[in-house]
This record gives sequence, C-alpha cells and structure tokens, in this order.
Amino acid sequence: MAVLITGGAGYIGSHAMVEFLNADKDIVCVDNLCNSKAMALDRVRQITGKDFKFYQVDLLDIDKLENVFKENKIDSCIHFAGLKAVGESCEKPLLYYHNNITGTLNLCKLLSKYGAKKIVFSSSATVYGKPASVPITEDFPLSTTNPYGETKLMIERILKDLWVSDNEWSVSILRYFNPIGAHKSGLIGEDPRDIPNNLLPYITQVASGRREFLSVHGNDYNTHDGTGVRDYIHVVDLAKAHLCAIERANKQTGVEYFNIGTGVGYSVLDIVKAYEEATGAKVNYKIGPRRPGDIDECYANPEKAYKILGWKAENGIEDMCKDAFNWQKKNPNGYEE
Ligand code: NAD
Ligand code: UD1
Repeated sequence: MAVLITGGAGYIGSHAMVEFLNADKDIVCVDNLCNSKAMALDRVRQITGKDFKFYQVDLLDIDKLENVFKENKIDSCIHFAGLKAVGESCEKPLLYYHNNITGTLNLCKLLSKYGAKKIVFSSSATVYGKPASVPITEDFPLSTTNPYGETKLMIERILKDLWVSDNEWSVSILRYFNPIGAHKSGLIGEDPRDIPNNLLPYITQVASGRREFLSVHGNDYNTHDGTGVRDYIHVVDLAKAHLCAIERANKQTGVEYFNIGTGVGYSVLDIVKAYEEATGAKVNYKIGPRRPGDIDECYANPEKAYKILGWKAENGIEDMCKDAFNWQKKNPNGYEE
C-alpha cells in the first residue's frame, strides 16, 4: 500500500518525501509543477538512493488524478499541493479558491471512492489571525485576513465535515508555523520564484550577494526589539511530523489539529544576528515601514504534538540558518541548471 503525496516536488513536500523514503514507506507523488521543478524529485532520489512513481498531474484534472488511484494501491495521503503566496492570493482570489479548494475536493472524492480515508493536511498558523496572546494553543479562535488563509480555514472545515459524515476518516490537520532551512545535503531547499516574500529566503539572498539589503518591515511592534516575532521551524523537523501523523492515522480515526512549531519566538533582528553568527556572512539591512497585514508576535505551544504524536522539533536556529545558507551556496540559482 502506498502513501499519496500531493505537492511532493515543492519545498516542504520534497523534504517529506526524503523522510518517507528513508522510513521505507511506499510513496506515489503527484504534482503539476506549477511552483516547483522535476529536478527536486531527482535530488530526492539522489539523497535517498530510492525510487518512486511520479505523476505530473493537476489536482483539478479529476480524470487524470483517478488514473493515479487506478494504477496504484493508495491507502492514505499527505496533502501539500496548493498555492501559497499571500499577496498573489489577494490579487487573484478566484485562482486561489479554485486551485486550493477544488483541488482538495477532487482529491477527497477519490480518497473516499478508493477507500483511502486517511489524510494529513498542510494548514498554517495563519488560521489564528491576530492571536490575542502567545504562545498559541490549538483551541485559539480562528480567523483569516486574506484569501490564502481563507482557503486553509475552509479546507480545515471541509475535512471536519467529511469526518462528521463518515467516521471512517482519519484527518490530521498540521498547522505549520514558519518553515525555514533545508536538507543537510544542500541538495533540496526552498526555491522561490521572483523576489522572495518570506524572511529567510530573502536573508539568504542578501547574504550571498544576490540582493543588496534586507528591508526590515517595521521596528515599532510590541516585541522585545520592536521587530516582528515568529516561530521558525526547520523544514526537516516539519517533514518528520508528517511521518508521526500518518502513523497515528493508521491506528485511529477522527479529526485532530496540531501546532507544528518549536515554541520559541525570534524577532527579525534576532534572526539577522543568528544568521550572521551561524554562517559568518554579512546581512545588510535597513529599517523600513510595516508590511500590511503583519502581526506583532506569533509562536506555538507545540505540546499537543509532543503528547499525542510523540513529535518535537530537534533543530535549533543555528542549524536552520546554516542549512539555509548551505543550500543557497550550493544552488545560487535554485534548481536551475
Ligand atoms: P510549494 O509551493 O513549494 O509546494 C506546493 C506544491 O504543490 C508545488 O510543487 C506545486 O507545484 C504543487 N501544486 C500546487 N497546486 C497544485 C495542483 N492544483 N495540482 C498539483 N500540484 C499542485 O509550497 P510549500 O512551501 O512546500 O508548502 C506546502 C504546503 O504547506 C502548502 O499547502 C502551503 O500552503 C502549506 N504551508 C506552507 C508554509 C510555508 O511557509 N512554506 C506555511 C504554512 C503552510
Ligand atoms: C507569512 C504569511 C503567512 C504564511 C507565512 C509562512 C504574510 C502577511 N503572511 O507570514 O500567511 O503562513 O508567511 O509562509 O505574508 N520580514 C521582514 N522583511 C522581509 C520579509 C519579512 O522584515 O523582507 C519580517 C515580517 O515582517 C515578519 C517576519 O519577517 O515579522 C517573518 O515574515 P515571513 O517570513 O513573511 O512570515 P510571516 O509574516 O509569519
């Protein structure tokens, strides 16, 4: 029996594929490569020395997706596939709703039809909106401020309704905090299109001389140094959480929500300093205006994931920075030849 991995060529998916292959799981990957390259999959094969089936299929194409189910014995799914750029989601809401929601509906119809009623879904801390306090626990009120976040919340609700209608389902909702870093090999990592929006990819490009300076988005937040505080988590730790979640799903049904973070918050300036210390590279920065929609502080209470899944983050900020830098150094233009 195989685990279907949607979006497996992407940043987090490729790291999860490595962990699943290293754990001797049989996997089948589906990705339309709209935000990734097939080379990431070659690198996954190179790291693990193992092979797997890959289908370049869009989740919106339900007939082609059904072929994947016909040709393989799929019994569960890790669902990474989706569009994820907050700014773009505000400009193109219909694209985001159609891709993320319809894609998930198609997938769930087939998982149901083929009796593979186990899904681990990539949600985000964005569903907590502007939290009233930190650290955040899974029972905090949910709200969103943009179409991307709305698709995450809607999918969470769809999956819950699915379970209510059919208690054979096992649904694991993982709410990721801020994934950064890369595999130790430096063979896979984050490969943003255009100018990166997120902090770490931007910093790595400044450190490697590809960009002149980092613009720090505001230093008048209610935090220890005025810059925004987030819970950064190593992508390999995050990838491992999916293995724990699928193992639990194999044992029991239900809907469960887990924060996947470290429980530690770092400010933008903490990260700049940590990055410089870990890598010896210089990160020039200038203080700029706030970015609309940003919040002061966001970090997890990750205890539930530890208690129930037996998962906790192992890598500290130094490893996250070193590994991000190593990936950038070895692949200055990402997966481009
Ligand atoms: P990514 O863009 O690198 O990976 C997503 C993959 O899904 C890509 O390879 C893309 O080609 C594929 N895809 C998108 N739409 C598809 C479709 N209709 N059919 C088939 N494939 C499709 O993103 P990522 O950073 O690896 O994120 C993975 C998941 O985790 C996403 O759902 C994202 O929203 C969620 N998430 C990411 C972060 C983060 O900071 N990276 C934080 C919280 C949640
Ligand atoms: C962003 C998304 C969020 C998504 C998360 C993980 C927005 C508004 N939110 O959140 O929905 O779940 O990424 O993918 O886009 N910063 C700078 N300069 C930069 C970039 C970032 O100072 O060039 C600061 C930000 O203001 C923030 C921190 O760095 O304080 C982290 O930013 P980022 O990496 O974009 O993550 P989030 O803001 O948490």
